[in-house]
Amino acid sequence: MLQFTLLQGTYIIAGLLFILSLAGLSKHETARAGNRYGIFGMVIALVVTVGAAVLGVQSGTAAGNRPGTGLVGLGLILVAMAIGAGIGIWRARSVEMTGMPELIALLHSFVGLAAVLVGWNSSYEVPLQNAGIHDAEVFVGVFIGAVTLTGSIVAFLKLSGRMKSAPIMLPKHNMINLGIVIAFVVLTVVYVLMPHDAMFARQLLLGLLTLAALFLGWHLVAAIGGGDMPVVVSMLNSYSGWAAAAAGFLLNNDLLIITGALVGSSGAYLSYIMCKGMNRSFINVIAGGFGSDGAVVGEAQEYGEHRETTSADVADMLKDAKSVIITPGYGMAVAQAQYPVAELTSRLRERGVDVRFGIHPVAGRLPGHMNVLLAEAKVPYDVVLEMDEINDDFPDTDVVLVIGANDTVNPAAQDDPGSPIAGMPVLEVWKAENVVVFKRSMNTGYAGVQNPLFFKENTEMLFGDAKDRVDDILREF
Ligand code: TAP
Repeated sequence: MLQFTLLQGTYIIAGLLFILSLAGLSKHETARAGNRYGIFGMVIALVVTVGAAVLGVQSGTAAGNRPGTGLVGLGLILVAMAIGAGIGIWRARSVEMTGMPELIALLHSFVGLAAVLVGWNSSYEVPLQNAGIHDAEVFVGVFIGAVTLTGSIVAFLKLSGRMKSAPIMLPKHNMINLGIVIAFVVLTVVYVLMPHDAMFARQLLLGLLTLAALFLGWHLVAAIGGGDMPVVVSMLNSYSGWAAAAAGFLLNNDLLIITGALVGSSGAYLSYIMCKGMNRSFINVIAGGFGSDGAVVGEAQEYGEHRETTSADVADMLKDAKSVIITPGYGMAVAQAQYPVAELTSRLRERGVDVRFGIHPVAGRLPGHMNVLLAEAKVPYDVVLEMDEINDDFPDTDVVLVIGANDTVNPAAQDDPGSPIAGMPVLEVWKAENVVVFKRSMNTGYAGVQNPLFFKENTEMLFGDAKDRVDDILREF
């Protein structure tokens, strides 16, 4: 009993640390502390959970009905942890910043797989009490886990370019999705009512459900176009949280339920914010099937000629400017241009120029991607503003430097109802007096859409790697 109470108490402390961690991560200034709370909470959770498994102490209502794994179990757990940690450290060190979204998608698939395995394993247990609830938990856990598993694998394949990013739409795809969800509810009821000694029929039903859920995960994400993948990644993050919570119910582990619910709800909220940022319907994302058709829309010649400039001319323009806004995008991450950009910012500020950053909610390839890069390069937080905070200020701005951004500054989102990014709010950079676009070519951005900004009269293109060009400008100062 004492061990049980100690376990519950420690789980509550770890759960509180996770909540503090999320609260900390919501602001630049407290993000480091938030990270530390999270690490500390996870170390406590791991040590206590492994200890409890070895000794056979459990939290939850069915506490005490599973034997401890003993020293052999401890050895196996430690070996599994060492292998997992080894692979994790190697991947974390070797991954390029640009490869992060696909790595995250792949990691979500592991959570889904774990929930499926826990569900199948638990289906062989026959609890003495509340057997119906246990059966329903098995079904829910396997269903969410399997959807997360294949959905995340498709997201990984699309983000890493191994699968076509254009949506794959089966005829009547919404009906198919709805049919599978209804089948899930019906099969759950049948499974709960089925006697436990009909083992073969029960496993057959669970097998059917697993296959249907694996198909649903594939189908939901395959139907979503490239430009809308960020919302999908955060939605899968949320699904992986709910899959972990379902596994927590099956394993009688309160902390896993708390952690899963925190990840699930914060992921759902992040998806909601991103849907708002991209002007997409939240329901459409959950139901799958929206986004671009992957075609390159708008030929360059439709918009006329673009004008090129040089680093020396941009430096002169900046020397005369009073107000500058920098809008970074994915290209800044590719070029790792954040350090010279930070240096340029401080040089301009020393000269009395008002320099600020405008950050689009889906700039780059990860939520908060630009904020992380700018914080890494020590750009002061108070000059880094969200799109909504800065969008009205462009008409009063002398120079906008668009550094490796494309879709997030594309006026077609407002002007062309037929564009795949139509309706997505964008940074209205073209309203400034002068716009300089740093990129290597006239190629399109992630959504494959031509950008009329590049052909506007007040826009000049500065071609080349963004880091090299900003370094050139710094040399002119
Ligand atoms: P993008 O539209 O992806 O455009 C980036 C631009 O950077 C490209 O046009 C590319 O042009 C340029 N570039 C690449 N490497 C460069 C380098 N070394 N130096 C200079 N320029 C370089 O970027 P964005 O405006 O940040 O928009 C993000 C897009 O990604 C949105 O469509 C969004 O939906 C999607 N997305 C976002 C996320 C999240 S969560 N943020 C996740 C997945 C997808 P060149 O090739 O001509 O250089």
